[in-house]
Amino acid sequence: MRKKIVAGNWKMNLTQTEGQKLTSEIVNMIKDESTQDVTVVLNPPFVHLQAVKKLIEGVNNIYLGAQNCSDKASGAYTGEISASMLASFGVSYVIIGHSERREYFGETNSMLTDKVKLALENGLTPIFCCGEPLDIRENGTHAAYVTNQLSESLFGLEEQDIKRLVIAYEPIWAIGTGKTASSDQAQEMHATIREHLASKYGKEIAENMSILYGGSCKPDNAKDIFSKPDVDGGLIGGASLKSRDFTDIVTSF
Ligand code: PGA
Repeated sequence: MRKKIVAGNWKMNLTQTEGQKLTSEIVNMIKDESTQDVTVVLNPPFVHLQAVKKLIEGVNNIYLGAQNCSDKASGAYTGEISASMLASFGVSYVIIGHSERREYFGETNSMLTDKVKLALENGLTPIFCCGEPLDIRENGTHAAYVTNQLSESLFGLEEQDIKRLVIAYEPIWAIGTGKTASSDQAQEMHATIREHLASKYGKEIAENMSILYGGSCKPDNAKDIFSKPDVDGGLIGGASLKSRDFTDIVTSF
């Protein structure tokens, strides 16, 4: 049985007070509603981790996540945060290779391999993002583009490592644009990703890996998207900043 996961990616939003208010509201709603079979991950900016950790304590299906980690283990890398630091803070998940990191911070497929390895070595679960830009979707080469991202970053991993990953398919043209992929477009790419993983690691491993959809996922489209057989949840940006919207997505399965 694959894990159902809804992860909130706050990106670079919210002050300390706002972050604590949002977290408290989500905790109360999640505790009250029947969400026990869904793994909820909150990925605030690094400076919020300690406060969020305290607020989610005792809620057994909410986990702490980070939005990024360094591709270096430690040392003179001013401003960076390492996987081991995150682990020492009680972080369980880390988003790796979000398209904004790839585009604005020059993260390459090979750099992402190093990040994934460090995350795994430190006991973190990477949420590895992939997805195509609009021009690639329009010229019809999106499947090749996304499977190449996976091969280049992940296919050097051993079986026991790849199976610890969560994959997030996030078409770049749908992120923050209000333009979501249709549930059929999501299903098609999720099935392609799963087949690609199976071609390298076998069907059993691929069948057990959770693949999340991301890109303008909202309460009004989550039910349809999550109903598809290869969609195991969502990576939520904008809607994760509103407690009611985020919780409604969590209860959409
Ligand atoms: P969005 O972002 O939900 O605001 O489109 C998703 C993401 O970037 O993870």
